[in-house]
Amino acid sequence: SLHADFAECLLAWHADHGRHDLPWQATRDPYRVWLSEIMLQQTRVETVIPYFARFLERFPDIATLAAAARAEVLALWSGLGYYARARNLHRAAQLIVETHDGRFPQRAIDIAELPGIGRSTAAAIAAFCFAERVPILDGNVKRVLCRAFGVEGFPGDAAVERRLWALAEDLLPETHVGDYIQAQMDLGATVCTRGRPDCSRCPLAGDCVALATGRVAQLPQPRPK
Ligand code: ADE
Repeated sequence: SLHADFAECLLAWHADHGRHDLPWQATRDPYRVWLSEIMLQQTRVETVIPYFARFLERFPDIATLAAAARAEVLALWSGLGYYARARNLHRAAQLIVETHDGRFPQRAIDIAELPGIGRSTAAAIAAFCFAERVPILDGNVKRVLCRAFGVEGFPGDAAVERRLWALAEDLLPETHVGDYIQAQMDLGATVCTRGRPDCSRCPLAGDCVALATGRVAQLPQPRPK
């Protein structure tokens, strides 16, 4: 069944087709992974790469970022947009210095307390850097799960979202959770996209409920009017 094979299928796809050479993949430094996740939230990989390098050159660690003036942090964000991301990053760095002895928290539940970091981003950082076995559920993953498992309803609805978190929890592999999470993100960003899904390249195509029932374009369902 898809349930049983989901993680294995994604891990095999990721090994063959995933990107493994991005700047933030060469490290388990939570500061760098955090920075990359925040930049990648609303910005494409190719755009993020030079911003990521410049930001780290000027602010190589949490203490340097915490000590900087807000205006300089915003200046290095200039052009990326969604400036609340930069303000939250700066405030979080100051909080880490003031209340965590300057060390980035290691558990997803503690990471999620920091400003600008939701449950899903916290889980991604904990899985990538500390191999914690926790699911993510960002927009891309919601779309993949709604299609693959034929989940009905608007995924922003609280009851549907609860179902999706439970499904995401259920599907977690025992090991290699970091690679698994990266595979889900990459599948949603490059194959199971919102506008032009390319099911011919999808490792889940053989078991996908949306594809089998001709509802790829109808799932996930939109916000009810
Ligand atoms: N979007 C958010 N996090 C990402 C990641 N780690 N890789 C690719 N796209 C992302």
